[in-house]
Amino acid sequence: MKILITGAAGLVGSHLAQRLAREQEVVALKHGDLDITDADAVRRRVAETIPELIVNCAVLQVDECEQKPAKAGAVNRDGPRYLAEAASAVGAEIIHFSTQYAFAGEPVGRAPYTIQDEPWPVNVYGKTKVDGEQAVPQACARSYIIRTSWVYGSGKNSFLCTVADDLRAGKRVRAIDDIRSSATYVEDLIDRTMEIHAKGRYGVYHVVNAGVCSYYEFALEAGRLRSIARDEIDRLIEVTHERDMKRIAARPRYTPLRCLLSEEIGLPPMRTWRDALAEFVRG
Ligand SMILES: NC(=O)c1ccc[n+]([C@@H]2O[C@H](COP(=O)([O-])OP(=O)(O)OC[C@H]3O[C@@H](n4cnc5c(N)ncnc54)[C@H](OP(=O)(O)O)[C@@H]3O)[C@@H](O)[C@H]2O)c1
Repeated sequence: MKILITGAAGLVGSHLAQRLAREQEVVALKHGDLDITDADAVRRRVAETIPELIVNCAVLQVDECEQKPAKAGAVNRDGPRYLAEAASAVGAEIIHFSTQYAFAGEPVGRAPYTIQDEPWPVNVYGKTKVDGEQAVPQACARSYIIRTSWVYGSGKNSFLCTVADDLRAGKRVRAIDDIRSSATYVEDLIDRTMEIHAKGRYGVYHVVNAGVCSYYEFALEAGRLRSIARDEIDRLIEVTHERDMKRIAARPRYTPLRCLLSEEIGLPPMRTWRDALAEFVRG
């Protein structure tokens, strides 16, 4: 299969390109190779490549979206629509990633969100991502929307990706304890996404490791898995709260996800976040 990946230098895009290239013909386009907000460039590139599948991993990050709402709309809504239109024109399928930030995250302790829950984004990122997940199937019926949450893996500078190494290096970290979601190991996200694609049922999926945790609980477990003594972990982790981080965009507080469609098509539950984190930390 010939697969075109956009946003291929990011966390999901880079891992996906590396994995799929083992068995498929992959055209991995970084931001510098293709700007998905350029409709003509998207059309031309897809028409030249004639992929059977497009996977869009390009995104504008949460706080930048809040500061630049027009750019957020261009990257998270318009770009995915151009890609879906181009996919439709060459008879390709499209996989588009979205986010737990589609939801409001209230009340804390509620049942995990499913596709039957109404999107209710609380920031510009969430709003533009919801617009994107609606625009894609309108432009290309052969589409998969994969909502995921708190993705981590090697190669990105984010709390979830670096906390295990930071703790082992004896660095102090600040970990938020009043925001909870489903954490997702990027390799598990890729496995499940390709299983979904192989089943061929179009729709909206929630792909996350099982369970729910806060950033603090994630950090504690990462430290434990790195065999750091509990009193040393306690010395290194400063527990903090979302309001104290003074981040630019509001964050939903409680957004675990559950996948009704995976259950319907007979895919087994994904492993727990602790099991997945153990594999990541132990390499
Ligand atoms: N990571 C998570 O925790 C998480 C959680 C939920 C959902 N997701 C979803 O998963 C998908 C992938 O996220 P990720 O974590 O891999 O993001 P990422 O690491 O930030 O990578 C995004 C990539 O998109 C590129 N990009 C930005 N604007 C672009 C444009 N106009 N045209 C082409 N490329 C552009 C960026 O390049 P530059 O940096 O050069 O601009 C970057 O390489 C997104 O749909 C995201 O919403 C991720």
